[in-house]
Amino acid sequence: MDAVTVMKQEVGRAAAALVESNTIVGLGTGSTTAYAIQFIGDRLAAGEIENVVGIPTSFQAEVLAKQYKIPLVGLDVVDHIDLAIDGADEVDPDKNLIKGGGAAHTREKVVDALAHKFVVVVDSGKMVDSLNSTFLLPVEVIPMAIAPVTRQLEALGAKAELRMGVRKAGPVVTDEGNLVLDLKFENGITDPAALEKTINNIPGVLENGLFVGVADLILVGEIIDGKPQVREVS
Ligand code: A5P
Repeated sequence: MDAVTVMKQEVGRAAAALVESNTIVGLGTGSTTAYAIQFIGDRLAAGEIENVVGIPTSFQAEVLAKQYKIPLVGLDVVDHIDLAIDGADEVDPDKNLIKGGGAAHTREKVVDALAHKFVVVVDSGKMVDSLNSTFLLPVEVIPMAIAPVTRQLEALGAKAELRMGVRKAGPVVTDEGNLVLDLKFENGITDPAALEKTINNIPGVLENGLFVGVADLILVGEIIDGKPQVREVS
């Protein structure tokens, strides 16, 4: 198994260990959270924890939760979320994130922001000094507004790229039926909080992948002296 996969697995295991009985858990999206979902399912099956229900952040999370026999509920039947576990594409020193590599950031933000505790699971390659340095910023846009939204984002100093499908002709369509623009700000992102609001204020934008002031704990998978370790950033 390659080093990145080992790191993802270890942080997934560490996050799943935080789940307690009788709780409602937000289930994130992506390859790292997939391990957390698997290990939560394993703990339920082993009887280590009981009466845990999940709230999925995507179709992928829903499929995995069903595979690992985690009961699911919707936000219409619960009044809180105890813990959310989710991945990220970049994490800055203030625990601000870029998410949306899997085009699921809209539902992820709803669930992660509602949780009493939001735990982020990443491998060490995701830690950056400033956001948008290694990863493009995803923005979910309703299809009829794609042209004017692109122009307005470019006016903000971004290069905007319509995300295209892999092994599928045409653009990526989100779980909500929308399109995704991936942004690179030539001058970087200096004020993530302000930019998050500015982008979301453009008519036709549903949500962007900046998660500012939402994360409570980052679990970082590292390989030290050839051994996997999990570092906590709180
Ligand atoms: C999904 O839209 C994303 O926000 C993911 O949580 C993020 O891309 C991390 O995914 P990986 O764990 O696969 O890197």
